[in-house]
Amino acid sequence: MTTKEIKEKLEVLVDPATNKTLGETAAIKHVGIDPEKKIVILIIAIAKTGGDEEKQLRREIAKICKLDLGFNGVKVQFEEKRKIESIANRNIKFIIVSSGKGGVGKSTVACNLAYALKRKNRKVGLIDADIYGSSVPQILEMKHQYPSANAQGKIIPFEAFGIEVMSTAFFAEPGKPVIWRGAMLNSMMNNFFYEVNWSPDLDYMVIDSPPGTGDIALDLRTIVPDAEVIIVTTPHLAASNVATKAGVAARQLKHNIIGVVENMSYYINPVNGQKDFIFGSGGGDKVAMELDSEVIAQIPINQPKHHLSLYESDEEVGKIYDDLAALLIIQE
Ligand SMILES: Nc1ncnc2c1ncn2[C@@H]1O[C@H](COP(=O)(O)OP(=O)(O)OP(=O)(O)O)[C@@H](O)[C@H]1O
Ligand SMILES: [Mg+2]
Repeated sequence: MTTKEIKEKLEVLVDPATNKTLGETAAIKHVGIDPEKKIVILIIAIAKTGGDEEKQLRREIAKICKLDLGFNGVKVQFEEKRKIESIANRNIKFIIVSSGKGGVGKSTVACNLAYALKRKNRKVGLIDADIYGSSVPQILEMKHQYPSANAQGKIIPFEAFGIEVMSTAFFAEPGKPVIWRGAMLNSMMNNFFYEVNWSPDLDYMVIDSPPGTGDIALDLRTIVPDAEVIIVTTPHLAASNVATKAGVAARQLKHNIIGVVENMSYYINPVNGQKDFIFGSGGGDKVAMELDSEVIAQIPINQPKHHLSLYESDEEVGKIYDDLAALLIIQE
């Protein structure tokens, strides 16, 4: 019997406090086996600890482990999901910007989308969850500063271009690589959702996630099960293959895919005004087709006029971001 098999057996159990299965809420955080004592060791996150719901679940887990699986016993540590305090419970639209491959412009798209939503008078927060390759502070032209807390001990978010911002970069020493793993990563993600004093009237929370389909994606699933995802790719087919994987992962996590943004789609040749497809073409369409989704924007290669990486509405690319924001707003 492997820990994976034990997990599968337990995932069908329902948390009586939420009526969702432990699988649906990704509640089983750890499964271990003590081979000498023949007992199972579990860490499970549930909505409410210490009550009858916990007792009931404990009985059901013991029944499966002992009677069905033949172990001598089971040790369960229940953790309470601080769901009630979480901004995930508020009426905010969560938009995760994701890509399989690095360097395709995910952070640029996330920041510009947040900024375009702001221009349309929405109140926007931005979480930079890209622990290792954090670039949101640079894009938003923010100096490194350590966050401070308010009287209640909640972290005060920074503001840039009218967007409330929190980034892992603010917790690290400037210029030093971040080496958080596992539990610390998880708690950093949790902090962003539970411990930051976001404005109570946020309309959108845009999340710049790390490339790939790893741990953070899983954490985000537990924290914001209702998030929607935008997949960023370049027109290059190599990037699009990996982008599809990110999309498939998002689907598996039961996140809804809004659509595909093809970044660096083309370059407007200043000599003749023609579009040059210097990175090839078709990547966005391919990803959209494979994910049964749509290309919702094609962004050319272009240097912004006014800022480092942000475009304004008086620029072609800024207008494309305006349209993208409008598309989200229509669906409100
Ligand atoms: N449409 C564009 N035109 C010109 N430059 C762009 C465009 N999009 C992104 N870039 C540039 O490409 C580089 C990578 O972009 P960005 O950091 O947004 O990618 P990323 O996918 O977030 O990368 P990482 O995987 O490192 O997080 C940056 O220097 C950015 O300014
Ligand atoms: Mg990035």
